[in-house]
Amino acid sequence: MPAGPATIRADLRIDSSASPPDALPRLSRRTALFGAAALLAPFVPRFATAAPVTAVPAVAPQPSAGPIRLDSNENPYGPSPAARRAILASAIEAPRYADDAFQELIAMLADAQHMDRSQIVVGSGSAELLNMAAMLAAQGGPGGELIAAQPTFEQLSAFAANVGVETRWVPLDAAHLHDLAAMRAAVTPRTRLVYVCNPNNPTATALRRDALEAFIRSVPAPTLVLVDEAYIDLADAEGVASVAALTHDCPNLIVLRTFSKIHGLAGLRIGYGMAQTALAERLRNIQLAFPNVTGLRAAMASLGDHGFITETRRALITDRTRIEATLDRLGCAHTRSQGNFVFFDVSMPIVTFRKAMLDRGVRVGRPFQRYEQWARVTVGTHVEVDRFLEVLPAALGRTA
Ligand SMILES: Cc1ncc(COP(=O)(O)O)c(C=O)c1O
Repeated sequence: MPAGPATIRADLRIDSSASPPDALPRLSRRTALFGAAALLAPFVPRFATAAPVTAVPAVAPQPSAGPIRLDSNENPYGPSPAARRAILASAIEAPRYADDAFQELIAMLADAQHMDRSQIVVGSGSAELLNMAAMLAAQGGPGGELIAAQPTFEQLSAFAANVGVETRWVPLDAAHLHDLAAMRAAVTPRTRLVYVCNPNNPTATALRRDALEAFIRSVPAPTLVLVDEAYIDLADAEGVASVAALTHDCPNLIVLRTFSKIHGLAGLRIGYGMAQTALAERLRNIQLAFPNVTGLRAAMASLGDHGFITETRRALITDRTRIEATLDRLGCAHTRSQGNFVFFDVSMPIVTFRKAMLDRGVRVGRPFQRYEQWARVTVGTHVEVDRFLEVLPAALGRTA
């Protein structure tokens, strides 16, 4: 019997039925074996497809039997085979605090980024680091402001509001890019933090590195600039690249990355920040959580699984291009995507389109400010994209 999602959850349950009331529950040999088999199981497509499926990376079983989830920018190809093995092997470390794994991941990241270990801050997802940056902004006392584009990823501004930092929104420009000139003009002595999400969620657009570098250098310390590079591994446009190395020059720059996107480890909650040592130390001092050992081990294994990263990137970009080509054929405007999602004009209220897609078994992204008629769809597996493209014309009320 193939191990389906329900089977995984049931079989990983701690088997306490045979235990005396005061004994600790135990994970039986049978349940552990079933769990391991499920985690290492090959992908079983949920939809037959006529499209050729070439060298698809191994994919984990779907987490639920409901609609296809193309609404949260997750990477369905993860975890990598090496990361899956590391996840299982990490069980033996679970009774201990994760100090060793934590230091090892920091060392790996520092090597990869040509930085000192003191410049790397590992958190429980980059969302935790965004929250930490908001707390830094709040440390200056009441009246501080954050500058952010609209729309952009809202974790930072939402948390900032909770700690008394207001957001000054700067609309994207006509090309759906951060309006850097307007953002720079909006900086005042009250500005504690400027947020640039590059590539931007939800628009999938990306600034060129040279434009972003000039902007970063123009913002005077002590105002902080935070560049969120959650999707940078999916960027392929000329001139778009990471600004991580600029941290060597700019004492007020924080660059964030995550293992939730190209590495496909969203559920294991590992992200990291890079900054000069003094700023990294300020961030570290306000960290609330300690990352988990399974996530740390999976992240390290995934970093070394170059074949998986290359193949996943290729598969996602191929299907991203396929979605964009179909949108062109259907006459739907879209941005040029630099992430694992596509943002496009549906010429109807997004809530109407969302329902039309959900009725056809596909969940797409929620409404975003200033783009009430635009939809964000995550690039799923080949077969999920097949299904999305199959139902898209009907949901748009157009002929295929
Ligand atoms: C731009 C951006 N930054 C950060 C995050 C948070 O990622 P993490 O899972 O690392 O907390 C997301 C998640 O979707 C995102 O889109």
